[in-house]
Amino acid sequence: MTDSLRPPAPQELLHSLMQQLEHAAQMADHPFRTAVLTTQGCDGPRSRTIVVRSACADTGSILLHTDQRSTKVTEIQNCPNGSLLCYDSTAQVQLILSGQLSIHTDDDIAEQVWDQSAATSLRTYLAPHAPGTVLAGPNCNLPEEFRGRVPDRSELIAARANFAVIRLQLVLIEWLQLHRKGNLRLRMRLRQGTLTHADWIAP
Ligand SMILES: Cc1cc2nc3c(=O)[nH]c(=O)nc-3n(C[C@H](O)[C@H](O)[C@H](O)COP(=O)(O)O)c2cc1C
Repeated sequence: MTDSLRPPAPQELLHSLMQQLEHAAQMADHPFRTAVLTTQGCDGPRSRTIVVRSACADTGSILLHTDQRSTKVTEIQNCPNGSLLCYDSTAQVQLILSGQLSIHTDDDIAEQVWDQSAATSLRTYLAPHAPGTVLAGPNCNLPEEFRGRVPDRSELIAARANFAVIRLQLVLIEWLQLHRKGNLRLRMRLRQGTLTHADWIAP
């Protein structure tokens, strides 16, 4: 009987985590599906909830999407270093995924994500006001005709100009496993999806 948690091999752990992130992007109730994106603003770091839209183990990248007019886009353009925080409260696993963020509006990445995304999640980009705009009063920021109705693809054309993909090229993954037998923490360094270095660090 061991009194501590059996540590995973870093390469196997990385493989499993990337698989979980790939699944998370497809499953609305996966704990890694909603993550917290932190960027660097002019007043300091700023965090917000965001949906993981896809993950690619081969390239070591994660795709998110947002409104081109949102504060985070300017922040990323000014400072491309950022991180994504995921927490699975059942497995008691925290992931800090950090690396280089980039914004894609008119390239193949943006086109592909736009084409693959459901109309329900693209409707938000029909918002007449830029996110964060001060309004005269409470307002859901959707055109009247689309409140309570999902637009069809032809009605989403105007939304395309507000749509942007955020790509996170992973450089570091920090895995923390909480366990009653003792916690474990591993920091993995990646280059283009390949594990180049791993350190066990004090939890
Ligand atoms: C569960 C949840 C999911 C969200 N998903 C997204 C998303 O996928 N993309 C996005 O831009 N904002 C998303 N938001 C809204 C952001 O948290 C944030 O309020 C908005 O993007 C404005 O952020 P900014 O002003 O820091 O740029 C989500 C919020 C919640 C609560």
